[in-house]
Amino acid sequence: ASGERPALVPVQGIPLIRYFAENWPLVEDFQARPDDVVICTYPKSGTTWLSEMLDMIYQDCDAQRCQRAPLHLRVPFLEFAVPDAPTGLETLSQAPPPRLIKTHLPVELLPSSFWRQGCKVLYVSRDPRDVAVSYYHFYRMAPVHPHPGPWPHFLEEFLDGKVSYGSWFTHVKGWWAKAATHPVLCLRYEDMKEAPSQQLNRVLTFLGRTLPPGGATAILAATSFTTMKANPKVNYTALPRTVMDHAVSPFLRKGEVGDWMNLFTVAQAEAFDARYQELMAGVEGPPIHPS
Ligand code: PPS
Repeated sequence: ASGERPALVPVQGIPLIRYFAENWPLVEDFQARPDDVVICTYPKSGTTWLSEMLDMIYQDCDAQRCQRAPLHLRVPFLEFAVPDAPTGLETLSQAPPPRLIKTHLPVELLPSSFWRQGCKVLYVSRDPRDVAVSYYHFYRMAPVHPHPGPWPHFLEEFLDGKVSYGSWFTHVKGWWAKAATHPVLCLRYEDMKEAPSQQLNRVLTFLGRTLPPGGATAILAATSFTTMKANPKVNYTALPRTVMDHAVSPFLRKGEVGDWMNLFTVAQAEAFDARYQELMAGVEGPPIHPS
């Protein structure tokens, strides 16, 4: 973990992985189609989980069909770019409709064609303390990020929005507000853990889909943490070590609510709370339609 790593590069004020920033002009011009479905999150909030769930829905709940390719080919990552690999845009150009598209972009950076085409967006949020911990381990294992430094330093950077994709607070506030004027379904990681079938139903209602008999059971089995962790088609072990090094930390690490308590000191938790109160003042939380 001591080698050189690329610094983040701002795109319209948002720090991004350098290779993503270099590819940005092409991403900005992306031409969305009306039937594109967008899975959007601040990183480490449940993207992979929801992506597998959606592919299961669109593949008639057939787990075998979801083995047809690694997840990053089934649900292309819009702004993804690293040396010597197809970009997210290149992967998308090969994807059959309806395309499932992953992105972590803040609302103000989403290419405008998605708004013009009225594309549905599913936005997942997660307790930012668990996000910060998950992100710290992800920075360690994914060398396209800068070195995270020691945990207290990374936590400061996270709170100051100096990590990849910027401020968690700005990201969730922007997307939650967008749900008032655009088809954005807001989900929470904690609700998906506590009542997965209920959240699956919200997703189905939002997308206007129904399942074949036994479908929900098949989806919940295929998307459990244990199943996904052991599934090479979703756990990202197919990616080169230059993108993710699972020997440092597995991508599917713990998959729990409240793991932050193992890393935060009491003082860090208090400082985090204070910052949360300040930056989220007056924000009610994610809109819950359809419930
Ligand atoms: S990324 O890199 O932003 O796309 O990562 P993302 O998929 O959003 O978040 C990774 C965290 O989600 C956990 N995860 C799950 N939790 C519960 N159930 C399932 N099925 C599941 N799949 C992924 C994953 O373990 C990461 O969280 P941590 O806390 O690090 O374990």
